[in-house]
Amino acid sequence: MIIFSVESSCDETSCAVLSAEERPGATEYKILSNVVASQIETHRLFGGVVPEIASRAHADVISQVADEAVKTAGIVPGDIDAVAVTNCPGLIGCLLVGTSFAKGLASSLGVPLIPVDHIEAHAAAAYLENPGLTPSYGALVVSGGHTSLYDVTDFTVLEVAGETRDDAAGEAFDKVGRIIGLTYPAGREMDELATRAADAGVTGEEFPLPSPAIADGSFDFSFSGLKTAALNHISNLRQRMRLGKDDPLPEEVVLGMAASFTRAVCQGICKKLAAFLDERKYDTLVMAGGVAANSHLRRAAAEICEKRGVRFITPSIPLCGDNGAMVAAAGYHRFRAGITADSRMNAYASDEAARLALTRGN
Ligand code: KG4
Ligand code: ZN
Repeated sequence: MIIFSVESSCDETSCAVLSAEERPGATEYKILSNVVASQIETHRLFGGVVPEIASRAHADVISQVADEAVKTAGIVPGDIDAVAVTNCPGLIGCLLVGTSFAKGLASSLGVPLIPVDHIEAHAAAAYLENPGLTPSYGALVVSGGHTSLYDVTDFTVLEVAGETRDDAAGEAFDKVGRIIGLTYPAGREMDELATRAADAGVTGEEFPLPSPAIADGSFDFSFSGLKTAALNHISNLRQRMRLGKDDPLPEEVVLGMAASFTRAVCQGICKKLAAFLDERKYDTLVMAGGVAANSHLRRAAAEICEKRGVRFITPSIPLCGDNGAMVAAAGYHRFRAGITADSRMNAYASDEAARLALTRGN
């Protein structure tokens, strides 16, 4: 079947066309198009995503992105069998642009509408490059808004095993990057700086930082203490060096912080990941989400899995960040599980809000 998908939960407007067919022992996925229009340049000026500007930017480009996705895929709208759209979690104004567009499209084509959870979609990106992948398995989703471990018990069932109690890893990367002078979103540049630091012999022990792994036997994380400690180190250094808050920091400080912060994040996440794998005994671990693109985390998580004989699967870099193809993958499995929506489908900022609305019947 051909799934057309829409993603607009944050600062990327994306539409994709996915062909998915059941074959013996595996699903055959073909990404026919995956068009991503990023708003990063717009938000960079403000140092983060401005929700109203983001919603308007989605409204500006969504029709064009959809047209391009259809054209690149080499299909006509009549070939579309279902429309999948992210309806939670995310920025509500942004989600409403995508869901309204998808509703209109599904209704005009007379095809089913499939509501998709953004986090489920991040994890589902793994199916696209691993057609034989089948639950149960463990999943680690690390993004700008989430840092969670899941028991994936079925294609559409992700049960939270552990999650962050405050900030997400991506959010912390972006904030710490900002205070050492990087622009939003800082994750990728932090990754590159940490690599440069390692090449220059910077160990990552320059700045002592607390672990984001909460020491209480749970699989939960907390990134706020780590973030605050990093901010304090830098502001103390600025005072000692008599630097203003916008003056550039010496390169060794930038490299030292990128390395120390990356090390603390990787060690903290891997500590919980190791405990999770030891307890659950999965044979496969999927790591997904924007921060899963981090080369240091990819290496560290792969090593944790390898030591335990666990198959480590992580999407290729373009499928880690927000994109329509992952929404189509999750949508395909939701459709197969009979999960579709009617014209009353709504958007929800959080998974909790979506659950509450469901129990109230709206
Ligand atoms: O999954 P995503 O695209 O959006 C959300 O659902 O939040 O994740 C975006 C986050 C941003 O915080 C960004 O800085 C981070 O992913 N990110 C990275 C890397 N690439 C993107 N963080 C660390 N290392 C990277 N290479
Ligand atoms: Zn995302």
